[in-house]
Amino acid sequence: SPAHTADLVVFGGTGDLSMRKLLPALYHSDRDGRLSPETRVIAMSRGGLTDADFRGKVDAEVRDRVPVDDPAVWQRFLGRLRHVSVDVGGADASGWEALARLLAEDEQRDRVYYLASPPRTFGPFCRELREAGLVTPRSRVVLEKPLGHDLPSAQRINDEVGAIFDEHQIFRIDHYLGKETVQNLLVLRFANAFLEPIWNSLWIDHVQITAAETVGTPGRRGYYDHAGALRDMVQNHLLQLLTLTAMEPPARNDREAIRDEKVKVLQALRPIAGTEVERFTVRGQYTEADGMPGYLDEPASTPPTEASRRVETFTAIRAEIKNWRWAGVPFYLRTGKRMPYRRSEIVVQFKDVPHSIFPGGGPNRLVLRLQPEEGIELHIMAKEPGAGEVTLKPVPLSLNFGTTFTARVPEAYERLLTDVLAGNPTLFMRRDEVEAAWRWIDPILSAWESSSDLPEPYPAGTTGPAGAHELLGRSGRAWHEEEEEL
Ligand code: BG6
Repeated sequence: SPAHTADLVVFGGTGDLSMRKLLPALYHSDRDGRLSPETRVIAMSRGGLTDADFRGKVDAEVRDRVPVDDPAVWQRFLGRLRHVSVDVGGADASGWEALARLLAEDEQRDRVYYLASPPRTFGPFCRELREAGLVTPRSRVVLEKPLGHDLPSAQRINDEVGAIFDEHQIFRIDHYLGKETVQNLLVLRFANAFLEPIWNSLWIDHVQITAAETVGTPGRRGYYDHAGALRDMVQNHLLQLLTLTAMEPPARNDREAIRDEKVKVLQALRPIAGTEVERFTVRGQYTEADGMPGYLDEPASTPPTEASRRVETFTAIRAEIKNWRWAGVPFYLRTGKRMPYRRSEIVVQFKDVPHSIFPGGGPNRLVLRLQPEEGIELHIMAKEPGAGEVTLKPVPLSLNFGTTFTARVPEAYERLLTDVLAGNPTLFMRRDEVEAAWRWIDPILSAWESSSDLPEPYPAGTTGPAGAHELLGRSGRAWHEEEEEL
């Protein structure tokens, strides 16, 4: 059934995220009948645009990104859009008053305040909303990442927002949780009988979680110099994938039951601190190669600084979960910019057979691919056809979602916006989850910060620095694609 009628107020509504992700996702929801007819999208920005200007901008910049097969639907979508100019942190309250008037047109609606703005604005915006009397019991607030840059700053933001909204009204986004394969991971694990009995340290040798990107960071240095791969990708996206892979079966498919199990995994992560950081983590920065600029030469509005030289665009970590199920099973995490391919996947590698009667052979591997093509592969050993000696060959049993299901695979933000509008927080991060993730990340960050070493260079377009290969190589393991090449 369509969601309640809502006013979705987007701070940073004319920004990059809004134009690239949120508005296309909302258009798809509208087209597929998931928005109630009266729902409105109100963009807030400093821009001084009128409603008509904003609609013109969306028409010019978003229309080409989405399949518009019926112009009437597109017009209906544009008709939902409003724009309110706001003087952020300034003395001019007229923007807040204009928003209040707009929202007062129908007090019965759900209100969703989506903060697609920098995290330092989260607290101030929430306070402004309260002072303008705009926070009702049916209001919700959505926080975009990054949620702080370390544990204390994350706690501060959570305190500030928590002083105004109840925890059940706060939706912290991690867009990886909206990806189809990620949700499928729970279905695969908990709606099939054959996996769970072997999903533990008796049968599993190790797990690899990779998010490799080909893009660099052009134009993003201002943000990226102070983020780096660990904050930008590991603290949130990769740790979320780790929790879903490792969590215990929840008793129910409900918001608290699932999030309770995820937090337990984060709390069981073995801390990596002090001198161990050098042993269990790797950081790299891409350098110029094959016509691609190095990180320091990417176009940016300011020249590189010491922070630019020290920031990691690649990281690999050997994590461990200290509990009965996973003791002794390494979880290798890896992410980087300017790698040779765009590929995000979880690879679960099983142990070798206890006793082999055939020459050759190798371990089974289950691959859950998030991108580019969403799917699942189980690599099994098979006999190569032939009347001679038995020769083993790994072959994949594969499921490609795109070709198996005719329905369009929705973008992560479509799922998440639908859930926000329906008030379902299961796929959003609870406060204790975010803070547990930071608690594990912080000691790694501080060891890196106090080290005099710079990140290891790796040429743009390669799979990261040598250290990343040694991280697995020293225990006789290799990253999935290296195995493929053997
Ligand atoms: C974002 C990061 O959260 O995720 C970006 O800030 C990164 O640096 C992006 O490129 C990757 O998302 P996706 O969905 O393309 O894997």
